[in-house]
Amino acid sequence: MKGVILAGGLGTRLFPLTKITNKHLLPVYDRPMIYYPIQCLVNAGITDIMIVTGGRKSGDFLSLLGNGSAFGLKHLNYTYQEGEGGIADALRLARHWVGNDSIAVVLGDNIIERNVNKAVRDFRKQGRGAKILLKEVHDPERFGVARVQGDKVVEIVEKPKEPASNLAVIGIYMYDSRVFEVIEKLEPSDRGELEITDVNNWYIRDGSMSYEVLEGWWTDAGTFESLHRASSLVADGGANLVSEDD
Ligand code: DAU
Repeated sequence: MKGVILAGGLGTRLFPLTKITNKHLLPVYDRPMIYYPIQCLVNAGITDIMIVTGGRKSGDFLSLLGNGSAFGLKHLNYTYQEGEGGIADALRLARHWVGNDSIAVVLGDNIIERNVNKAVRDFRKQGRGAKILLKEVHDPERFGVARVQGDKVVEIVEKPKEPASNLAVIGIYMYDSRVFEVIEKLEPSDRGELEITDVNNWYIRDGSMSYEVLEGWWTDAGTFESLHRASSLVADGGANLVSEDD
């Protein structure tokens, strides 16, 4: 299983912080934001990693991360997204590298407290399809929101005005290699992006989507408020440092 970290986009919600640098190079407490998704994958036992970057100062990722020795890695793979075509558009760039493998995708601005190794293990057992992680939030309208019936997700709506639940779809997704064929069939949404929510709804319709509810805290860090919250959460309790098995 391979890992893909999506760190493209222009980070316009954080202007002017992102005027001269990439959002994922900004500090979250004591480390650059991009460190957290890398550590998340490494802690889950995924060490074959590609970073999709783009926009301003993308070369700085190489200066900062090199071959990933700070995470005990021997090598990191990089690719470049032109423009800001959406999360699924960024993911499609990893196709040639992923081949027929399955993948865990982590959004570069998502930070979690605990370790997702159990979810990754469960997905390996599942063998095909996709898995998402959900988390109860007080502001679901900011996220993809899942409607769940028993052990099934029946629909995900991206940033709904009237959310069907308070279960946000967090930015850690697992897919079989069919994901790249799914992306090729997508049409841009009203905001002009290829949406990961459309990919997830395809797997729901296919009947091969599973979900788990994330243990521990989760936040994105793409707005001033959430960036601030991310730093406070890390300062108060650390991130990616505790295993679900502990
Ligand atoms: O944080 C979880 C949420 O992330 C999900 O609940 C939503 O369903 C999902 O659409 C996404 O929502 P956002 O609107 O908050 O995503 P954002 O545009 O902030 O992008 C998140 C990350 O994805 C960003 O840090 C880098 C990467 N990205 C995004 C875009 C638009 C790219 O690599 N390329 C892109 O073109």
